[in-house]
Amino acid sequence: MNKAIIVTGGAGFIGSNFVNDWLAQSDTTVINLDCLTYAGNMENLAALEGDGRHVFVKGGIGDSALVSELFSKYQPYAVVNFAAESHVDRSIHSPEDFIQTNIVGTFRLLEAARTYWNGLPESDKGDFRFLHVSTDEVYGSLKKNDPPFSETNRYEPNSPYSASKAASDHLVRAYHHTYGMPVLTTNCSNNYGPFHFPEKLIPLLIANALADKVLPVYGDGQQIRDWLYVSDHCAGIRRVLEAGRVGETYNIGGWNEMANIDIVHIVCDLLDESRPRADGKSYREQITFVTDRPGHDRRYAIDATKIERELGWKPAETFQTGIRKTVAWYLANPEWVANVQSGAYRDWLEKNYSERS
Ligand code: NAD
Ligand code: DAU
Repeated sequence: MNKAIIVTGGAGFIGSNFVNDWLAQSDTTVINLDCLTYAGNMENLAALEGDGRHVFVKGGIGDSALVSELFSKYQPYAVVNFAAESHVDRSIHSPEDFIQTNIVGTFRLLEAARTYWNGLPESDKGDFRFLHVSTDEVYGSLKKNDPPFSETNRYEPNSPYSASKAASDHLVRAYHHTYGMPVLTTNCSNNYGPFHFPEKLIPLLIANALADKVLPVYGDGQQIRDWLYVSDHCAGIRRVLEAGRVGETYNIGGWNEMANIDIVHIVCDLLDESRPRADGKSYREQITFVTDRPGHDRRYAIDATKIERELGWKPAETFQTGIRKTVAWYLANPEWVANVQSGAYRDWLEKNYSERS
């Protein structure tokens, strides 16, 4: 079978880390299909310029004709589906795009993959994989003493974003159950690291701190998330693609539950150490508690026992090492941050934060 894979959403945060990491350790050609929404950024892929193993195609996963053409032209042995609208706050303001990309787009991608897979020689059918990248948010919110999410937890999505991801997970599952398509699903916790778009908590904190702006903390700041360094997530996906049992889902997480306010303090302290404020005060002075996110999930936590037991995957980074690398990356790449802070980005900040007292 051909040695090409299709990666969708490979110009976004996790997708671009995945493509960069993949090509650092494999010669398999990557067909990178991304329609370049505000979150897609070719600068994330600059290291691959002129590299013939990376074929970038600007287009949407919902464009059935284009996607079918890519399948027949490149005959991939796998699809890794990152393409999505991914920001919870945006899904609260404008859910429509989330329905179109995350549900309808994934459905169309599945249909194109099914047609292609049906046409493969019998000997190749079993080797094909459709890996769908999903989130822990589909499981809903945990109470303080609940055990972390395992793969058998009930789906209870609470935001338009998580509901749209849950719907796409169900479609992927159904394509295995009904048509026998060799699918895999991963549900991961909060990622952080290089190329993270500064609408999300950690890069927003770094960008705002350096720009002398407020560090907005929703509600009481006691919401808990599990944080995983992005390259660990990418390694987990590669491992599931390589050896995951067809039809199964794998939770991926960092065993690292932290309250938002503690994350904010750590980022401030690292910046105090590496880029002290001119007035000698701490960046903590910039922390401002603002109106909470509607329907804000209180706690997520991932039980990553299955992927460790079956596939031997464990995170390589601790939060202490990963967050240091992340802060260092943002300090070393101010032009990357400046370039994504376009007019559209400023409009978003105005929309999201002006209504929060
Ligand atoms: P992102 O928003 O940074 O990137 C999404 C990418 O998808 C962008 O490059 C965008 O241009 C592209 N895209 C959007 N709509 C598209 C379409 N219709 N066709 C083709 N490309 C399209 O997202 P991310 O944070 O990198 O997340 C990637 C995936 O991982 C998503 O499916 C998300 O649900 C999932 N996930 C994210 C996290 C996280 O912490 N960021 C955690 C778990 C799972
Ligand atoms: O759990 C995985 C999910 O993690 C992914 O599926 C999503 O794609 C990804 O965006 C992320 O969702 P969150 O909503 O957890 O991430 P975000 O960075 O937006 O927020 C993290 C926490 O910080 C959350 O509890 C909300 C809070 N927050 C966020 C922002 C942007 C603030 O307190 N202030 C802020 O300004």
